[in-house]
Amino acid sequence: MSRKKRILSGMRPTGKLHLGHYVGALENWVALQGEYDNFHLIADYHVLTTQLDTSDIEANSFEMLKDWLAAGIDPDQSPIFRQSRIKEHAELFLLLSMLITTARLERNPTLKEQVRDMKIENMTYGHLGYPVLQAADIILYKGELVPVGEDQAPHVEIARELARRFNTTFGEVFPEPAPKLTSFARLPGLDGQTKMSKSLDNAILLSDEPDVIHGRLRKAYTDPDKLRRNDPGHPDICLVFTYHRRFNSADTGGIRSGCESGFLGCVDCKRICGEAIAGQLEPFREKRRYYDEHPGDLRTILADGEVRAQQVARETMAQVHEAMGLG
Ligand code: TRP
Repeated sequence: MSRKKRILSGMRPTGKLHLGHYVGALENWVALQGEYDNFHLIADYHVLTTQLDTSDIEANSFEMLKDWLAAGIDPDQSPIFRQSRIKEHAELFLLLSMLITTARLERNPTLKEQVRDMKIENMTYGHLGYPVLQAADIILYKGELVPVGEDQAPHVEIARELARRFNTTFGEVFPEPAPKLTSFARLPGLDGQTKMSKSLDNAILLSDEPDVIHGRLRKAYTDPDKLRRNDPGHPDICLVFTYHRRFNSADTGGIRSGCESGFLGCVDCKRICGEAIAGQLEPFREKRRYYDEHPGDLRTILADGEVRAQQVARETMAQVHEAMGLG
């Protein structure tokens, strides 16, 4: 039997996850579990690229971990670990940083977007190196496939370049990783902005209760030309219809014709959408509640994942040292 391909993916621990995280990446991690050999990292070092207040990192890591488990990541199959616990990330990051120019890193569109959104005036050296650290994360585990949201694709491209550069300079150690996007790699936010994000306050969380989901949707941005119930609407430009397509796919034909004919008003349309979303999240909330009540399990899951990750990281770095004639 041939070896399963390795998946490496992760997220920064910023707390509870929202639907955008789910449909952009997490859903793919769960779907590909079994077919691939998955490793998932909690990118706590990466948080430091934009924030030096470390007080929430641990709590946020546990909130995110609960969402991963609630969404269906099976920690027996897929080791979950904190980046900062595996020191090889830092070493490989340092070595890879010699293989890429600052000009290449300054061209990174995801970084430019972040600088604009977060109004960063003076970028640190570590922040510029964000994708180099991410490349280290991926290739340390010889990740071949990286299921991420669309905004992360430029980072995976940099990881590819770095793997190739290492191999041609020092000898073949790393496979070249490839991104894997979902069909909803970027889910719009409730305000119609291109991206759902907690900091923009336009998100539905995976852990939100049904009444919260309905309340959030009631305020969602819709077709501005559909003012009254009987006005014909334009589903293709309506954000709520995008959510229907993703969470209520069996019924999109009916929603479309109801909206276009004016028979279905926005209030009812949002209620149906909210029911579909809340229904799909119900099993997540139930699983999450289990982990809320068993925090010791979370520590065990990480401890186990970190032993497994450490072993792979150590083996890869032995090959790196050998190829480079170092250490
Ligand atoms: N940059 C990713 C994000 O913001 C998080 C991340 C860190 C990551 N290391 C990774 C994603 C390695 C995939 C692979 O969500």
